[in-house]
Amino acid sequence: MNSPVFLPEFAEGLDTLLTWRRDVRHFQTVPLPNGALDHLLDRACLAPSVGNSQPWRFVRVLSAARRAAIIGHVEAENQQAASIYRDETRAAYDALKLHGLREAPEHLAVFCELDPAAGRGLGRQTMPETLAYSVVIAVHTLWLAARTIGIGVGWVSIVDPAAINRLLDVPEDWRLVALLCLGYPAEESETPELVRRRWQDRLHAGQTRFVR
Ligand SMILES: Cc1cc2nc3c(=O)[nH]c(=O)nc-3n(C[C@H](O)[C@H](O)[C@H](O)COP(=O)(O)O)c2cc1C
Repeated sequence: MNSPVFLPEFAEGLDTLLTWRRDVRHFQTVPLPNGALDHLLDRACLAPSVGNSQPWRFVRVLSAARRAAIIGHVEAENQQAASIYRDETRAAYDALKLHGLREAPEHLAVFCELDPAAGRGLGRQTMPETLAYSVVIAVHTLWLAARTIGIGVGWVSIVDPAAINRLLDVPEDWRLVALLCLGYPAEESETPELVRRRWQDRLHAGQTRFVR
């Protein structure tokens, strides 16, 4: 097959996708269509990975009991996380919505297998963390692919990773990288929620340091 040509309209579309991706915490409760999540997992698996190790492992949470256990866990951890803030900052933190686990129709946990056979160790001897980096790229790939079909993704990190392993019965040598909520967003914005809520503005490329 000939290699594709990416026309300027595609570059513009990609730019719009990057600008409008968003981390979503407000979801509609409607389920995703059959096959949509499988499609997104297929896209995620196109991500690059160290030594082509493909260390991503996906766990789709189906039972109401496990969903409830995850929500309970995140809410308890969030109480703990909130305790580092005081006064107005605490009030501002408490006003943030930091997950959409209750409404989102899908909970997806993404793990990194810590010593996968695939890839035969190539590229990760001096930087074993490259396995987890590979999984992060898979998550981002899924995130972008989801946005192209109107599906929103929210990343929830206010968790004790080992507790999520236990709640989901996954092996100890899988390390949690991301707990994701997926569903149709209840609102759209070009601006991150934490910017809109005046928690943290975007920083710009002025952060780059130049060396000669
Ligand atoms: C590794 C990672 C962990 C995150 N954890 C959370 C979280 O626990 N709760 C939350 O509301 N957002 C979480 N986010 C989303 C960020 O708040 C969000 O990406 C950031 O504010 C920029 O907004 P945008 O993704 O809409 O551009 C996380 C994002 C990343 C990449």
